[in-house]
Amino acid sequence: MNSVHRHLVSIDDLSLAEIKSLFEHARTFATDLRGFAALCPGLISASLFYEPSTRTRLSFESAMLRLGGGVLTAADMRATSASKGESLADTVRVVSGSYADVIVLRHASEGAARLASQYSAVPVVNAGDGSHEHPTQTLCDLYNLWIERGRIEGINVVLAGDLRYSRTIHSFVYALARFGANIVCVPQPGFELPAYVVQRLREEFAVEPVRADATRLGDLAQSSDAVYLTPQKPHQLSLFTDGGKGLAVGRVDALYMTRPQTERFTDQDVPIQKYQQLSRREMAADALRDAVVMHPLPRREEIQPDMDEDPRSIYFKQAARGVPIRMAILAFLLGRIALDAPPHEFDARLFPAPVGVNPCRNPTCISRTETRHVRALYRLAARFPIRAHCGYCSHEIVAPLVGCTTTRHFHPHDSASARRIRPDHMVFFASEAEALAAQYEPAARVGATGG
Ligand code: NCD
Repeated sequence: MNSVHRHLVSIDDLSLAEIKSLFEHARTFATDLRGFAALCPGLISASLFYEPSTRTRLSFESAMLRLGGGVLTAADMRATSASKGESLADTVRVVSGSYADVIVLRHASEGAARLASQYSAVPVVNAGDGSHEHPTQTLCDLYNLWIERGRIEGINVVLAGDLRYSRTIHSFVYALARFGANIVCVPQPGFELPAYVVQRLREEFAVEPVRADATRLGDLAQSSDAVYLTPQKPHQLSLFTDGGKGLAVGRVDALYMTRPQTERFTDQDVPIQKYQQLSRREMAADALRDAVVMHPLPRREEIQPDMDEDPRSIYFKQAARGVPIRMAILAFLLGRIALDAPPHEFDARLFPAPVGVNPCRNPTCISRTETRHVRALYRLAARFPIRAHCGYCSHEIVAPLVGCTTTRHFHPHDSASARRIRPDHMVFFASEAEALAAQYEPAARVGATGG
């Protein structure tokens, strides 16, 4: 079986074929939740939750128990040695040593699960890392769409609410793009998809943002400009009817609402006067007639109670389906089921940055919050001009200068000479002063061509 020591840190860790194979297993588990206790006896999962959780932790623990395994829980990390200053890396080394066979981790810093996976002797599952990703919620959401709509390819999905800080949205939007779904963003003003997410969608998944006419979404879109993300394939334009005012949003298959992630807001965020709300009134819009209403929960005011009895609302069913899908995830990572699918359809390789150099500027990235153990990582998004993202938090690395670790010369990121640097030899600098301080020389002055 190829599953041993695979981690689930990002939704990108799974190929589309693997995701579908997980759905098949989840559907089997769902037919008899009590019938699979012979799959994981003697195996233990450890829940390390540095942030609050209801559904994710309990559904993972329920899934492990239903598979016949056992569960260790550190749900209040203040009661652990974290409060004595123990690093995440050390905690993970200890827990994966002999205590547990799989670790389910939730943490406030973006990239925490990636870091944990580097120190763990057992598979690590990302149960939410800051505002970055929440891949198992996305598997649950996609599984729901697959059951409710029969497919994901080409369906029309509206994403509403706080798209900036919702980690569920980020993993979801990457996966929807890869599946070739049509995505319409109707964000709370000021809480649009972050630039680094849009950039990844563009550069890695060939998706282009286009402004759309969302009048058919009625009251929902009144406060917001709709942005349509178009995977660059002709069939994607089926979402639109050209009503003379540009591309117009047509019939919607699913409306995914999110709460304001107030715990992540900063002073720079726009104060919210009135947050978007879904009630039967908004759902009366023509385009939403057949849309299922989804929410990762917990909800606040953004879905009004009058929607609970509406047959289009599936958010409680969505949460219930978290158990069979997490049974499939655990059984796969523990090597107890095989996925009948090839692993990857694209190159998601990460390269380590040289020791002592951390080009990531995101203050809530684990590479900034846990500096003791971190060796910076990056993923190359484009070769010309060179563009890279942090391998932990996925934020763009803003680096006008790129050095080569073998020649120790630095080059403008958009120069022909920078293009010749091997990815595993690259080092990123925000300024000339930074490059000089790291003892790199400007290539022009020495006439170098990279290496
Ligand atoms: C989400 C989370 O924690 O990101 N909750 C969940 O896991 N179902 C969504 C949220 O907290 O808003």
